[in-house]
Amino acid sequence: MNTVYSSIKGLGFYVPDNIVTNDDLTQYMDTSDAWIQERTGIKQRRYFTYGKDTNASMGAAASRMALDRAGLEPSAVDLIVYATITPDYYFPGSAFLMQRELGLEGIGVIDIRNQCSGFVYALSIADQFIKTGMYKTVLVVGSEIQSSFLNKSNEGRGVAVIFGDGAGAAVLQATTDPEHRILSTHLHADGRYAEDLYVRDPGSSREGQWISEATLADGQYNVTMNGNTVFKHAVVRFMEVINESLTANGYQPEDLSLLVPHQANIRISGYVQQQMNLPDEKVFNNIQQYGNTTAASIPIALTEAFEQGRIKPGDLVCLAAFGSGFTWASALIKW
Ligand code: COA
Repeated sequence: MNTVYSSIKGLGFYVPDNIVTNDDLTQYMDTSDAWIQERTGIKQRRYFTYGKDTNASMGAAASRMALDRAGLEPSAVDLIVYATITPDYYFPGSAFLMQRELGLEGIGVIDIRNQCSGFVYALSIADQFIKTGMYKTVLVVGSEIQSSFLNKSNEGRGVAVIFGDGAGAAVLQATTDPEHRILSTHLHADGRYAEDLYVRDPGSSREGQWISEATLADGQYNVTMNGNTVFKHAVVRFMEVINESLTANGYQPEDLSLLVPHQANIRISGYVQQQMNLPDEKVFNNIQQYGNTTAASIPIALTEAFEQGRIKPGDLVCLAAFGSGFTWASALIKW
C-alpha cells in the first residue's frame, strides 16, 4: 500500500477594504509613521468594517478563493480546522459559523486557539488526519479581527500599532506523491510565559460574574504585551524551529527556497534572516501592508508569495511561527 501524505492544493486570502495607515493612527494616539516603521516595518494595516466583515465571513472569503484555485467545490471538504484568537462569539467558535456560511453542515470542524502559531498548528492537525487516511480534503483557515481588541489610546500604543485584521486559507488533499507534500510539522509551547502576551478578560476564574464592573474598570480585555520579552524569545525560537524542520528532513538552511515567517515584526524576520544567512529573495515579508494578523499572517503571506511567483513546484518552503503562549511551530513543505 502506498504511503499517504498531504499537499497544499489551493491558497486564498481576504483582507478588509479599510486601510489604516500609520498616519491615521496619530488621530488616536501619540505616535508617528517614522516610529512605527523603524520599530516594526509596518506602513499600514486593515481594520474590519462593522456590519460587513465578520471573522467567519473573512475566513469564508479566503476559503472560497483557496477552493476555487484548487479546482474544488466546497462540498469536497471533509473537515475544517480553523485558527483564531478573535472569534465572533465566545462559543461556539467561528469554524461553526464559517461552515454554515459555506453550506457544509454536517462535516466536522475544529477550532484552534494557538495565537500566532495557530495556522501552523491547524496545518499540522490537518496533515495528521490526512496521513492516517481519515480524511482526504481538509480546509485550514486562519482569520482574525484584532482591531476591536486593541487599546487605541496612548496607553495601548505599544501594542495597537502592530496588529491588523485579515484571513487566509489553504486546501490540503491526500497524495501518494512523495516529491510534492508536507514533509513534517513541529509544534512547541511554553506556558510559563502566558502572561507576557495575553488578553486576560473575560475569563472564568473570577470572583462573581466573569464580566463585572471591576473587570471592565481594569481594562484587561485589551491585549497586554511585554514587547521586549516577546522579541527576545521570538528570535531564538524562530531559528530553533526552522532548523528543527530542516534537520528532521536532512536539509541545510541553504537548501531553502523560501522562508515564510509569521509576520510579527520586520526586525524579528530580519534578525532571523541575517543569522541564517538567507538572501532577501528567500524570505517573504508583507507585514508592511497588513501588520501582524496573528493566525492569518502565514496563510496571507503564503498566498501572496505564491501569487507573485515566489513558489514553484519542487521548491522547499518553510513556514515558521512564534507567538503568545508562548508557542512556536514550523512546517517544511516540498511544493
Ligand atoms: N509610538 C511612539 N512611541 C511609542 C509607541 C508608539 N506606538 N509605543 C511605545 N512607544 C515609546 C515607549 O513609550 C517608550 O518611550 P520611553 O523611552 O519614553 O519610555 C519608547 O517608545 C520605547 O518603547 P519600547 O517598548 O522599549 O520599544 P521597543 O523598541 O521595545 O519596541 C515593540 C516596542 C513592541 C515594537 C517591540 O518590543 C517589539 O516589536 N516586540 C515584539 C512584539 C511582537 O512581535 N509581538 C507579536 C509576537 S507574535
